[in-house]
Amino acid sequence: MAAQPANNPVAYLNGLYLPLEEARISPLDRGFLFADGVYEVIPCYNGRPFRLKQHIERLIRSLDAILLPSPHTETEWTDLLNGLVQRNGGGHQSLYVQVTRGAPTLRDHRFPDHGPATVFALSQTLEDPESRLLDAETGIRAMTCADTRWSHCDIKSVALLANVLLRHEARQAGCDEAILIRDGHVTEGATSNIFVVQKGELLTPPLGPHILDGITRDLVIELAQQYEIPVREAPIAETQLAQADEIWISSSTRGARPVVLLDGQPVGDGRPGALWRTMAEHYAAFRQALMQ
Ligand SMILES: Cc1ncc(COP(=O)(O)O)c(C=O)c1O
Repeated sequence: MAAQPANNPVAYLNGLYLPLEEARISPLDRGFLFADGVYEVIPCYNGRPFRLKQHIERLIRSLDAILLPSPHTETEWTDLLNGLVQRNGGGHQSLYVQVTRGAPTLRDHRFPDHGPATVFALSQTLEDPESRLLDAETGIRAMTCADTRWSHCDIKSVALLANVLLRHEARQAGCDEAILIRDGHVTEGATSNIFVVQKGELLTPPLGPHILDGITRDLVIELAQQYEIPVREAPIAETQLAQADEIWISSSTRGARPVVLLDGQPVGDGRPGALWRTMAEHYAAFRQALMQ
């Protein structure tokens, strides 16, 4: 099959691979009308989806949580997504896959009695991970915001309006990410999980209904354990942020990134910290070993 150039990407819609510009979804789709759906974002390096199994397992968990039977088995999801990567020419890509409760003939809050789910996937170009690491050297700016989201943030739902508004608020303030605070404690970022380094120990808030079980969060914890970096899942009070030696965000398309300025104040000495650097090296080595 012919690989498509990045400016003419191939998408997947309900069983068909087709040019993205030809993909059409009904205005009655419940994803459009009710945000009644879930999604995943999966990075691919050298044409290989990174931690695909974990992403597919989380997709199936999200579908279970919204009572939508998975339209595919794990093997079928794997083939479907690998097929999309190949048709888009391999290399570094960011895959997006969304599943909604389909497009019945009427707008009605009640679940449709029958009818297929909508499955849509697309591929976008992903920044080279090596240049991403160089970018990260400058660190990012973040601000704290009240966590205004709902109580099922552990579901990777397409209902992202609160996240979109929070990220916008951060951007308006010249920041790259919003760090969310609920009841005096850090939950996560608007689009990432949060790590804090305090006295040589790496801390991240424990999983619960207000936090997404990030695939990158999980890998950072795994690598910390492997390389004997002290790591603990523990509640992080908002007040701990001001004393943190380092703060990182983590997500699939960005890996772990250091926050150097929080609410206008330097984090630590205002430069990416030593532990972040160590973790970034382990992370890059792990990725490279898998991508060969
Ligand atoms: C709200 C939120 N939390 C955490 C994450 C990080 O998850 P992952 O590492 O699986 O990309 C994301 C990623 O988009 C997110 O949107």
